[in-house]
Amino acid sequence: MLLPITVYGNPILRKKAREIGPDYDGLKELIENMYETMYKADGVGLAAPQINKSIRLIVFDASPFEEDEPELKGFRKVLINPEIIEFAGEEETFNEGCLSLPGIREDVIRPGKIKIRYHDEDFKEHIDEWEGVRARIVQHEYDHLEGKLFVDKISPIRRRLLTSKLTAISKGKTQPEYRIIPNK
Ligand code: NI
Repeated sequence: MLLPITVYGNPILRKKAREIGPDYDGLKELIENMYETMYKADGVGLAAPQINKSIRLIVFDASPFEEDEPELKGFRKVLINPEIIEFAGEEETFNEGCLSLPGIREDVIRPGKIKIRYHDEDFKEHIDEWEGVRARIVQHEYDHLEGKLFVDKISPIRRRLLTSKLTAISKGKTQPEYRIIPNK
């Protein structure tokens, strides 16, 4: 089932999301729906606050980047209650977009490597170290669980230039190809 997506201006995108347990009602179905929603909207990652649930749950699929990194073919993960326990590597610049900020893309600087602890969809714990595109996607999605957006990470001048676009999104004047939840 496709889920409507929250957009800039919705307070849920500014909240710190809460952890969940294995008994979370309808978790398997929610994960399936998040994948379906993400693929349909041509996203590579989706965090639960973007489908209006303030819980620590992320899905991502880095396959579209397999041309840059062949090992990303079919690389998809569910991250439950993730915690980035180490940032490392050189800082890298990457042009980011976000389904909650339709029509906006900006270069964002982030650390090149992360070490992350998370539970998978069966609540098995993992610790992984990722770099490149995986580290990038996961840091972007992780920020959603912390109430942060990539536009927080760009220079004040760049952000000023986006003011009218951001206002248009928050007022519902930007209609992407996918279904959104209009802000009140
Ligand atoms: Ni995003």
